[in-house]
Amino acid sequence: MRRQVVIIGSGPSGLLLGQLLHGAGIDALILERSSKEHVLSRVRAGVLEKGTVELVRAVGLAGRLDAQGLKHDGIEFAFDDRRHRIDLHALTGGKRVVVYGQTELTADLMAGREVAGAETVYEAVDVMPHGFDGEAPCVSYVHGGTTHRVDCDFIAGCDGYHGITRRAVPERAIATFERSYPFGWLGILAEVPPVSHELIYASHPRGFALCSMRSPMRSRYYIQCEGGEKAESWSDQQFWDELRRRLPADAAEAVKTGPSFEKSIAVLRSFVAEPMRFGRLFLCGDAAHIVPPTGAKGLNLAASDVHYLFEALREFYAERSTAGLDAYSGRALARVWKAVRFSWWMTLLLHRFPDATPFAEKLRSAELGYVTSSQHAAAALAENYVGLPL
Ligand code: APR
Ligand code: PHB
Repeated sequence: MRRQVVIIGSGPSGLLLGQLLHGAGIDALILERSSKEHVLSRVRAGVLEKGTVELVRAVGLAGRLDAQGLKHDGIEFAFDDRRHRIDLHALTGGKRVVVYGQTELTADLMAGREVAGAETVYEAVDVMPHGFDGEAPCVSYVHGGTTHRVDCDFIAGCDGYHGITRRAVPERAIATFERSYPFGWLGILAEVPPVSHELIYASHPRGFALCSMRSPMRSRYYIQCEGGEKAESWSDQQFWDELRRRLPADAAEAVKTGPSFEKSIAVLRSFVAEPMRFGRLFLCGDAAHIVPPTGAKGLNLAASDVHYLFEALREFYAERSTAGLDAYSGRALARVWKAVRFSWWMTLLLHRFPDATPFAEKLRSAELGYVTSSQHAAAALAENYVGLPL
């Protein structure tokens, strides 16, 4: 079998890239390790930058996103029992974010791929890229007990942090940069109206809390927890009680509780692999970088990588120019590092670190006061939150 591009992984990166390539008449096969149901069951973040929304529009799949996505013009920071609004819209000259669950976006992209008749092989095991340092790469995989081989021009590694493509690169060719944080986020989904129509990022001596949502009837809440904790050890009641303790009194009173239908713990980590290109293999999204969810940047960074890679591949097929491909890693990483910096900063600003000195806590408190009282500091936060230009 021969394809122009083989995409490994059908998360948001792989699906969005697949759809853009299809629209440009470039033939791509997606190989996905899990079942479709499994991919669709993963609950992830839900704040989309304008650039991400525009990419989904560009592939003609923003119908539900435009109808059901919640447009947010601001966010709140809460600390010392008070709420402070950051007016994203005013501070960025009219920009905003859209709250729409990644799960929904994945479903829309998958449905679009099916309608387009583009092929995805689910439950492809032992997927392995070969020969990407030469002119004739290929990808092997096993499906239904049979080994297959697909020859191609390029391989896109869209297989997430735990994927195979980054690990298939010789260790000496790759540099990694990492920081882990000594806590996690315990998150729940519940069929209750959100506490407020905008997100509340709360910093409290007991730890961070976040009030988010998926729709006017569905809330997504998080609380900072210890690194090694298990989600099952938290009852719903314990979760609601702890969430309320970390919010200012008026917000705590407004929390509507109900049974959770999803409860999980996410670890927080910053990670970057450089470069993002190895001959004819390109890393994209979580395969190359991870950010803590505090700035809601994971999915948006995946989308910007996809944008750069798609433009480069289109240029290659239209003009036989490798300029975009040659520039891909540098362009993507420049934006990645800015988002890594922002997510790290938000994480430091809002969380209680177990080993923080009293001096560090005083500085953190001063910085929270500064960001919520200075136009200039708030504008820098807002500029990053709504998304830096592509
Ligand atoms: N072979 C084939 N597929 C694989 C392999 C493999 N060896 N390893 C992983 N995959 C698949 C996973 O099953 C998953 O469906 O690759 C996909 C990777 O998807 P994501 O982890 O969602 O990564 P990405 O598409 O880059 O999405 C970016 O934004 O909000 C953030 O972290 C969040 O997933 C999110 C990300
Ligand atoms: C979410 O809704 O899941 C969410 C929102 C904002 C974040 C992280 C997660 O910063």
